[in-house]
Parts: sequence; C-alpha cells; structure tokens
Amino acid sequence: MWSVRMCVVIVSFFAVSQLATASATASAAAQINSNSVLVALLDSRYTELSELVEKALLLQTLEEAVANHNITIFAPRNEALERELDPEFKRFLLEPRNLRSLQTLLLHHIVPSRLSQTEWPGESTRHATLSSEPLHLSNFDSVKLAGNAEVVRLDDVFRTDGIIHGINRLLIPKSVQQDFNNRRSLRAISAVKPEGAPEVDLRTNRLKKPAPPVPAGSPPVLPVYYAMAPGPTLAPAPAPGPGGARRHFDGESQVKDFIHTLLHYGGYNEMADILVNLTNLATEMGKLVSEGYVLTVLAPNDEAMAKLTADQLAEPGAPERIMYYHIVPEYQTEESMYNAVRRFGKIRYDTLHVPHKVLAQEADGSVKFGDEDETAYLFDPDIYTDGRISVQGIDGVLFPASEKTDSKKLEDVKTVDRVQTPPKSRRGKLLEVACQVLVTFGQDSRFNTCH
Ligand SMILES: *[C@@H]1O[C@H](CO)[C@@H](O)[C@H](O)[C@H]1NC(C)=O
Ligand SMILES: *[C@@H]1O[C@H](CO)[C@@H](O)[C@H](O)[C@H]1NC(C)=O
Repeated sequence: MWSVRMCVVIVSFFAVSQLATASATASAAAQINSNSVLVALLDSRYTELSELVEKALLLQTLEEAVANHNITIFAPRNEALERELDPEFKRFLLEPRNLRSLQTLLLHHIVPSRLSQTEWPGESTRHATLSSEPLHLSNFDSVKLAGNAEVVRLDDVFRTDGIIHGINRLLIPKSVQQDFNNRRSLRAISAVKPEGAPEVDLRTNRLKKPAPPVPAGSPPVLPVYYAMAPGPTLAPAPAPGPGGARRHFDGESQVKDFIHTLLHYGGYNEMADILVNLTNLATEMGKLVSEGYVLTVLAPNDEAMAKLTADQLAEPGAPERIMYYHIVPEYQTEESMYNAVRRFGKIRYDTLHVPHKVLAQEADGSVKFGDEDETAYLFDPDIYTDGRISVQGIDGVLFPASEKTDSKKLEDVKTVDRVQTPPKSRRGKLLEVACQVLVTFGQDSRFNTCH
C-alpha cells in the first residue's frame, strides 16, 4: 500500500516538474498545482493520450488554458489509440512534419469550460473546443455522446480546474482527416518505386556503390567535422522517425557522409564548400534527418556555380537562400522524379526556401528544373542516396521567379546608391529555418507569422 502511494506521489511530482519546466519557458508563468486536472491526466489510466499530449508539445498550451478557465477533457481509452486505430493514420500522426495535425486532433478533445454530469446539456449542443472545430454533445437514450464517441466513464477524474470523461473512441476533426487524405494521395504519387532504383545496403543504409578511390598522398578533405558544431536545437523534443519510435537516425553523420561523397564525386566542390561554410545549415540538416525528415538536394555543379556573379554571391544571406531553394523536403531519386514528370507533365516541389517551389518538367528524356530562362537539367543522377538524403547533380543554379526580379531591382538600386541589406543574425536564421520547417511540413497557410 505504501509503495503504491509513494509511487503516485513520485509520479505526481514528476508530472508537476514537467509542467513546471514547460511553464519556465512561458512568458506568463502560470501556477500549476498538483491538484490540477493536467497533473491528473498525466497520472491517469489514459496513458496513450497523455503520451501523445507530451509528444505534441502541448503541455504549455494546456497549462495556459487551465490558468484561464476550467477545461473538460474527453479522453479516449487506451485501446482506442492502440489496436483500434488505423495504423496508417497513427503513423501519419506521429510523423514530425504532421505535428500540427496531431495538435489539432488532441485540442479537439478539450472543451474550455466545465461540463460535468450535472452540467451536461439536455439536448444536442455545439461546444467550442481548443481546436478551431466545435464538438457536438448530445444524449442518446441514457448514453451521452461527444461527437460520435460514447462517454464510457462520466466524471472519471474530477478536479477543481477541470474534468476528464472517458470516451470509447478517438475524435477526428474534419481538417485532420483532410490532411491525412491529402498526404496519402501525395504519397501515392511520390512513392513510385522505380525499377533499377539505386540499391541501398540495408545493413549500413548506404548506397551500394564503391566509393571512388582517393589517390595516395592527396590532401585531407575539408574539415566537415568542424562544420558540425552543435547549435541551438530546432525542435524541443526528439520526435520519432518513420522507422518507429525506438529508432533514431544519426542525421549528422549522414550529412557528413553526403558532403564527403559530393567532394569525392568531383565537379561539386563549390557546393560542398558552401555546405561546409554554412555550419548552421549543415547542422540543421543533420538534425532534421535525425528527426526523421527526408531531403533531396539539387546540387548545382561547379560550372553552374562559376556562372554566378560575385555580386550574386556576395549579397548577405545569398548562399543560404540559394541552398534553401535547392533543398526539397522529400526523398526523391532520379527515377521517382522522372516518373513523376512523365506522368504529370509538370510538378512543383516544395523547397526549404518557403514559400518558393521549384518547377520540374520532362525535357529531352530528362528532368528539367526551373522556369523561364533560368533552368537546369538533372545532370548527375543519384550522386548520393541513402534512403533519407538524396543528392542530384544539376547543371544550373535555380532562382525563384520573384527573387529574380528582386535581385534585378536591388542591382538597379545598387548602381545608384550601393544599398546593402543588413546580414541576418544567427538567431534570425535559426528561427527562419524553424518557421520554414513548420510552414513546409505543416502545409498550413494560416501559419505565416514567419514572413
Ligand atoms: C473552475 O470551476 C470551479 C467550480 O465551478 C470554480 O470554483 C473555479 O473558479 C473555476 N476556475 C476557473 C479558473 O474559472
Ligand atoms: C568558405 O570559407 C572560406 C574561408 O572563410 C572562404 O575562403 C571561401 O570562399 C568560402 N567559400 C564559399 C563558397 O563561400
């Protein structure tokens, strides 16, 4: 008996300290007491739900909610989130890039007022939730319904700042169902697994292709290891990759690996140089890959880079912008891109230079990127492909359409009055990456505060 009590105390303490940590970062330091419904949730039988709430980084949001008003949590029983949930949907929810969907889904289970058994509406009524979609509460015979879920444990947890009702299934808001459907059809397009695709060694996760020999006595390659200095973290918590919650990828070594490959391959020294110089970018790429993201780098070859004018490169932030515009947050091989453009004519790929996309189309039996006059052909296919990072050599440097006019304008101004935009700070750059990632992966046009 004692040990059970102790256990509860320890668990409660742990829960409170987690909440406290979350609140320490909040500007409004809300007081969470150990009797809070949030602490009760983390201790409750609804372990699957509370785990998801933590994964979705929602503790702080909820803490702010209970500071302002009572809440009612409709908590799906564990089975509803385990065996009974479509595994594909669950995978979708856990992918880092779908964080916004997971958050919306969870917030849809919370009503910002107190609705205990005695306060339950007599007839069907709509209630605002912490997501943007309302929830219908109704009665059917003696059964109480929240949306299409049955309340199976009424007033299961009762606290001064809120209530938890147990429900028999997960509530799925329309917008999340829509996101899921969109992703699924996108995947159907991009998952074209071509024949003759490069073979990946399952043991090392590397491309089965002998590395080109390094001539004896050649100088050491560039110190990419120094480029991988640890920087501020992008995401507050490690997120599970597509390989499952237990598997974490070593993204940094994969980024080092592809930079090495680029250097050994020959003809891409400029690009490798920029990557080595932009330590932030390389580090962030490594982190993204560790977190389960995949990337395709469209690498302009040296000839293409040589055509860039000194002015174009000297502009503050120009190398970063160029790089971001050449990184597609998808894993594409030459074959998958070629199949896609052959099937659909023109495809626009998202880039990390949000909101700019890069156009790809079929031309001369190959893939041509870019529109108007600034185009590049896929020139050296599959320079590096390890299942997470893909590097495709191209023979031109790509610019987003709007930026071309911007840089022209800037040039015009420059000739009159050498105007210089101030360089972005490190912090600014990181925020930009974070915003870009959120916007890109959230695919949420409302989320445009970054620009
Ligand atoms: C929550 O509800 C209780 C009981 O109705 C009330 O005493 C308390 O003031 C409410 N708390 C907030 C923050 O509104
Ligand atoms: C990388 O940095 C070195 C040393 O600061 C510099 O000489 C070189 O021009 C830079 N390369 C690029 C492509 O920016």
